[in-house]
Amino acid sequence: MATKSAEIKLTPDYVVGEVDPRLYGSFIEHLGRAVYGGIYEPDHPTADNDGFRQDVIDLVKELQVPIVRYPGGNFVSGYNWEDGVGPKEERKKRLELAWRTIEPNYVGVNEFADWAKKANTEVMMAVNLGTRGIDAARNLVEYCNHPSGTYWSDLRASHGYQQPHAIKTWCLGNEMDGPWQIGHKTAEEYGRIALETAKVMKWVDPSIELVLAGSSGTQMPTFPEWEATVLNHAYEYVDYISLHRYYGNHDNDTANFLASAMDMEEFINSVVSTCDYMKAKKRSKKTINLSFDEWNVWFHSNEADKQIEPWTVAPPQLEDTYTMEDALVVGTMLITLLRHADRVKMASLAQLVNVIAPIMTENGGKAWRQTIFYPFLHVSNFGRGVVLNPAITSPAYDSKDFSDVPILDAAAVFNQRADELTIFAVNRDMEESISLAIDVRGFEGYQVVEHIVYTDEDIKARNTADNPERVVPQQGSGTVVEDGLATSVLPKLSWNVIRLKK
Ligand code: AHR
Repeated sequence: MATKSAEIKLTPDYVVGEVDPRLYGSFIEHLGRAVYGGIYEPDHPTADNDGFRQDVIDLVKELQVPIVRYPGGNFVSGYNWEDGVGPKEERKKRLELAWRTIEPNYVGVNEFADWAKKANTEVMMAVNLGTRGIDAARNLVEYCNHPSGTYWSDLRASHGYQQPHAIKTWCLGNEMDGPWQIGHKTAEEYGRIALETAKVMKWVDPSIELVLAGSSGTQMPTFPEWEATVLNHAYEYVDYISLHRYYGNHDNDTANFLASAMDMEEFINSVVSTCDYMKAKKRSKKTINLSFDEWNVWFHSNEADKQIEPWTVAPPQLEDTYTMEDALVVGTMLITLLRHADRVKMASLAQLVNVIAPIMTENGGKAWRQTIFYPFLHVSNFGRGVVLNPAITSPAYDSKDFSDVPILDAAAVFNQRADELTIFAVNRDMEESISLAIDVRGFEGYQVVEHIVYTDEDIKARNTADNPERVVPQQGSGTVVEDGLATSVLPKLSWNVIRLKK
């Protein structure tokens, strides 16, 4: 018996906004074993004719990832995209300064576009505004998107790609506010180069959409002045501004860690306000939306990464092995993104394979699902439609860094076409289950299809190569709809997906 209780009231007409499918994007950087040993491993038993691992493609397809950011990340700020095109045997090996490795350039723009097609996804391409600028960026747009009859588009054709890649979404550099970035810039410097690059990229292809680089997190001393300054320069030429944020349980304080998404919530609110302030200031008709294009839990591998030998190809970097606890934090981050579906139109779980990723592989061996795979899978698979604005009543707690943390965190998505209503909910309580009553009187005839429960007695349990199904979701029971009220019990420290259908 649960002693705590919570309520959710849902009405079909109270809508936050439509989910842009790109909210369920992810990210592949030339970093660690994301590309080599992750998506690409020609000697692997499942490799296809192009050297891509089919076992990984199958898992990516399962996740239904609509867009993947590429090629970085910090990597992009030192990258010459021309190194990655043309005959493979002529490609240069480069010192990769962002992650201190050697980049062999076996995979580049064309191979990644091929992989994306096979994985049923789109490419979100980032340009280098660290060591390069307008010229390299405009040439890359021409190479990728111009049909034919010019130097760069004909070069693409000569590389075996007659048809343009038609890449719609582009990022103007990466984390340019960070001193760790190759070519780190002040907000004024970045604002100017971003504006001039954006202008020319859109002259080459007016159909593209551009993401301006926002702050690398709420912890940055330049946040949120950075956003105001860069938008002041580039407002009329860009469509989105980016946000990045990673959390970790650095002090082994689970209650505090589980509340991390409260910071994400504040971050989104502040960036929305800054965008709208600039809109008013510029008397603009255009609204800038948000691209949360790096988010995840990242801390497990921090120490191991300090031991990595520099200047090798594809060492095992940023290989966090995720726990049940991490999956709950990822669940609350997904709920937070959904709550802002009116303004957060794109997001990228960073990253997709091996590097702080839901999918792990062994070189030459298995591929498996980490704990964080599941909340992402559920939201990506069932979170299509409109996000509803729920009235939630929940007990709350205080933690080291946060106050009034609701024990129940939840979001609801209504898929009118499929006649489906899905509630995603996390019970953050460390001791007790919570009884939940969901008012669904506005959804006449809807019945519970399933209640997926994801929890474990051991909050630190993980999936590994030897035990890949140690923590998997289960079917719950006892969730019913009666007189317009869906009642359920959510176990302590659990991720829940309650699916109703007419
Ligand atoms: O995703 C890992 C790294 O995190 C990215 O390269 C960088 O953009 C961020 O700091």
